[in-house]
Amino acid sequence: MKAFLIPALIFLIMIVIVLAENGCTEEEAHDQPLQKGTAGAEAVAPAWTGWNHYQIPDYTAEGKQVRYGYELIANTAHYLGPKGTVAALSNGMNCQNCHLKGGTVPFGNNFGKVFATYPQYRARNNGIQDIYARINDCFQRSLNGQKLDTASKEMQAIYAYLRWLGDGVPRGKALPGTSIMKLKFLDRAADPTKGRSVYQARCITCHGEDGAGQPDAEGTGHLYPPLWGAGSFNDGAGLFRLRSMAGFIKNNMPLGTTYRNPQLTDEECWDVAAYIDSQPRPAFDQHEDWALLAKKPLDAPYGPYIDSFSERQHKYGPYGPIELAQAALK
Ligand code: HEC
Ligand code: HEC
Repeated sequence: MKAFLIPALIFLIMIVIVLAENGCTEEEAHDQPLQKGTAGAEAVAPAWTGWNHYQIPDYTAEGKQVRYGYELIANTAHYLGPKGTVAALSNGMNCQNCHLKGGTVPFGNNFGKVFATYPQYRARNNGIQDIYARINDCFQRSLNGQKLDTASKEMQAIYAYLRWLGDGVPRGKALPGTSIMKLKFLDRAADPTKGRSVYQARCITCHGEDGAGQPDAEGTGHLYPPLWGAGSFNDGAGLFRLRSMAGFIKNNMPLGTTYRNPQLTDEECWDVAAYIDSQPRPAFDQHEDWALLAKKPLDAPYGPYIDSFSERQHKYGPYGPIELAQAALK
């Protein structure tokens, strides 16, 4: 190569690098959530958004399986609810009642880190859990039902859908927005009575006075899903923990809310979560959960704990003193 070309080449390479970097920053800036009203520190980096189900390549055999997996997530009750066309093994809720829009929504309890991070150690069952076991946890707790056979066409289709959604997510990565946002603790206990007022003003039109939601036209599932009562998730479900419930509500409810435009203050979220969690729901035998007490979350509503705070304080807070006491014990 001619010697005089080398400086020119270096110059060119530098321009390319600068352009590429600018490109990235712009993209990131574009994805930045609004800081106003978003409380959690997690909302700073660009968030993962899943593929839309219209993009499923269902002209291939593999794509057809992915499509069926999506269908099962979106319309679980139709296939597997009390009047399910395939089997009757769940409570009439759909996976996407909580994993919004097929599990693709940033901070909407999405599936963005599932394929990349499982199998993984999970403290609730104190063991390594694969994707099938994690899905069955939700069948047994969130859908208050029974396990789905791992070899079944349905489980394999759900797995295929989760693998398709995880395409492009680096192994081991939990990209921003792929967990429920953790709201800052209040310095008081969350208050079910205050929460009741929030519920009546902002939630009752869809979820109902009795929290049972509204049935759908087909009569197999719900137009608006139940928040408590016999048809809802049981007390062993992750959403029953106050911090998960408050964080889910913050970025997703009332319907139409996104993490870019939360409609409730953190305080309202904690209180309305407390109101929902003070209502009756099915019970789940969870005496084997959280065998390692040091790894049990602060807001686990049932003892035993490593500290001496009451079940009530673990359920509703205030969490500050518990956090301090646990830090001293660990
Ligand atoms: C009542 C609400 C609810 C319903 C219904 C529900 N889930 Fe979940 N699911 C959760 C919560 C809460 C978590 C834990 C999220 C967290 O810890 O950030 C979770 C976690 C998961 C995870 C692991 C996600 C991760 O990033 O580690 C998978 C996979 C999953 N659910 C699949 C399903 C499937 C499949 C269905 C339907 C059969 C379903 N869920 C129904 C609430 C629900
Ligand atoms: C306009 C109707 C509407 C309003 C108002 C509304 N929701 Fe929802 N909510 C829904 C729908 C629909 C879903 C299920 C989303 C889906 O399947 O796509 C849902 C899901 C939920 C879930 C998870 C699923 C479950 O059944 O547990 C919770 C928790 C929840 N809403 C809480 C609230 C709270 C708290 C409020 C008030 C602050 C509220 N919602 C207001 C329509 C509404």
